[in-house]
Amino acid sequence: MSSYSPPGLAPLFSPKALADRVLQMGDQIAKDYGAVLEPRESLLVIGVLNGAFIFMADLVRAINLPLEIDFIRLSSYQDQTESSAHVVMLKSLEMEVKNRHVLVVEDIADYGLTLAWLLDFLRQKGPKSLKLAVAINKNERRKVNLAIDYVGFEVQEGFLVGYGLDYAQNYRHLPGVHKLKAN
Ligand code: IMP
Ligand code: MG
Repeated sequence: MSSYSPPGLAPLFSPKALADRVLQMGDQIAKDYGAVLEPRESLLVIGVLNGAFIFMADLVRAINLPLEIDFIRLSSYQDQTESSAHVVMLKSLEMEVKNRHVLVVEDIADYGLTLAWLLDFLRQKGPKSLKLAVAINKNERRKVNLAIDYVGFEVQEGFLVGYGLDYAQNYRHLPGVHKLKAN
């Protein structure tokens, strides 16, 4: 399949690099939770919509353990490249979090405000454990302390699109991750 790379974008992580890394992450997650899940317990994986939908789909298929899936939808960006501390919950959870081993799956951690808000929200619901997996950790602009348990790739800066990540709702479908070129 030829790779579609629109003008204005520079390829950063190829579909193959993403797939390889996600398989490694899935193995690590299965190993870690395999040691803590009791018989008849399953992992609850919570994906953050919309950005995490592709990473979530790949990651859960790489986790060889009993698990259940839920999604939450948050908005904190409102079509700009700057984050705000204001988090709006556009879709809430449908599953019980209390006493569950919960793994949150997000596309990217940037300022960290969205994830800090979400982890706090979930912690108040009394999970048995709470961990975080992100496809990309962009740490240069981090504003809060955020413990990330599983990181796909580390980047310093730049606005990234593809593999679920959007710029004003565009480019989510690109199979690789690209960097938006400054114009
Ligand atoms: P923050 O960590 O609170 O800044 O917010 C993280 C959210 O901002 C992510 O879930 C993305 O939706 C969005 N975001 C942050 N950096 C990028 C990027 O480089 N490309 C696309 N979306 C981004
Ligand atoms: Mg997001």
